[in-house]
Amino acid sequence: MQQKIIILDFGSQTTQLIGRRVRELDTFCEILPYNKFPKDDPTVIGVILSGSPYSVHDPEAFKVDLSQFVGKIPVLGICYGAQFISHSLGGKVEKADSREYGRANLETINLYNPLFKGFDRGSQVWMSHGDTITAIPDDFEVIGSTKDVKNAAFWCPKEKGIWAVQFHPEVFHSLQGTLLLKNFVVDICGSRQEWSAASFVDSTVAELKQQLGNDRVILGLSGGVDSSVAAVLLNRAIGERLTCIFVDHGMLRKNEFRQVMDDYKVLGLNVIGVDASEKFFADLAGVTEPEQKRKIIGRDFVEVFNAEAKKITDARWLAQGTIYPDRIESLNITGKVIKSHHNVGGLPKEMNLQLCEPLKWLFKDEVRRVGRQLGMPDHLINRHPFPGPGLAVRILGDITPEKVRILQDVDDIYIKGLREWGLYDKIWQAGAILLSTVRSVGVMGDERTYENPVALRAVTSSDAMTADWAHLPYDFMATVSNEIINKVRGVNRVCYDISSKPPATIEWE
Ligand code: XMP
Repeated sequence: MQQKIIILDFGSQTTQLIGRRVRELDTFCEILPYNKFPKDDPTVIGVILSGSPYSVHDPEAFKVDLSQFVGKIPVLGICYGAQFISHSLGGKVEKADSREYGRANLETINLYNPLFKGFDRGSQVWMSHGDTITAIPDDFEVIGSTKDVKNAAFWCPKEKGIWAVQFHPEVFHSLQGTLLLKNFVVDICGSRQEWSAASFVDSTVAELKQQLGNDRVILGLSGGVDSSVAAVLLNRAIGERLTCIFVDHGMLRKNEFRQVMDDYKVLGLNVIGVDASEKFFADLAGVTEPEQKRKIIGRDFVEVFNAEAKKITDARWLAQGTIYPDRIESLNITGKVIKSHHNVGGLPKEMNLQLCEPLKWLFKDEVRRVGRQLGMPDHLINRHPFPGPGLAVRILGDITPEKVRILQDVDDIYIKGLREWGLYDKIWQAGAILLSTVRSVGVMGDERTYENPVALRAVTSSDAMTADWAHLPYDFMATVSNEIINKVRGVNRVCYDISSKPPATIEWE
């Protein structure tokens, strides 16, 4: 029986991070809206209450009935979770004189408490809260304090135990935060740490065999990590009964369609490659407005994919590489869908396909681990994310095959350079943007040029929600800039984008 930790989400921005940290401890966890604690599930070995944008005193603050789990399994409250526990069980939470934000040190710490096993005195933690806990409930005992926060950590030893910490162990700046979570998940809750890529592959392949029987499954491949790993996993389970469709809209990277098709063949996948670039270019002709471009590409993609899918008349399932963050982002904490994932586009309705999402429980880094476990090559697994509409959102102005060719050449020099200089794997995502609406003067040999600039972009990030521009070495930039201007006709200037997200986005359109 697979054990799991439940993380109740009160709306904090770091809830997902708690989930990732627990998974890194080889323990399965589920992030659920604060009011959706599962009833009578014997596999739940512990519960973590997340932070929240609310104060416990806000009328609209999220409330949970603690009696569902207190005394039955160990409980850990983080930030708002700690305040809520205190507030509900007879302690006192008040507005702090000033917001407590940033680094602090646990100057007093009970090293005999199981939560702090192995901790250093003075351990650095990260605070981020507007309220402070001025009194803890009866039966509770303080186990950690900082200079400014007396009740920074406290616990109730009764029954299965309740722990509460005012700081955020899940964030990087709480230097022993992972140790704290390990102490809770492994020592206190008793996780056997059996969640691994290997166990995931074995159990998922078995489940897929059972679920799909002799049915045929269709899957749309994009060349990206998620859909590729989903395909290889399904292929393990049902072999030739998986048919993959890979649509070339003409705006992929240079030679990407052919290379990815070759990779898929080597992996033994049954892939239909559809070159629909002419249709896409025709429909995009003269269109300059970014949203309009996206709409046309999305619509054409569904049309081409569906036309192909309909030829597979005995298909019963549509598989997708949806991953866990796609689904968490799609749920707000009242459980209503607020944003549908971009992969979930237009299913061919008349085909009556059921949805199969074998990666729906995985975070991105786990998808990569599963890919490695399945023996997929590194260059497929470590590939940067690439937007569905491809280079179309990296060409400002209207799109023509010639502009795409220019950008492909620029992008190819840039990406190859990043690989050669050992920089590719250090960044989240990189690409080039053709500023085809701008022209500037240059001089090449004795000739005056009047051509387009390109912008190079590279960012570091952990989830694409926020991103910083990558501080690439000047020598590297000098080399690629030279090569681009010398080799790619139509480009006479190279710029580097030094904007972070927010306020900029990763893509330019
Ligand atoms: P932005 O530009 O919003 O991008 O900062 C965040 C991440 O999402 C990718 N992206 C897309 N992916 N279809 C996709 O499949 C899209 O329309 C799309 N737009 C942006 C982008 O490359 C980055 O990784």
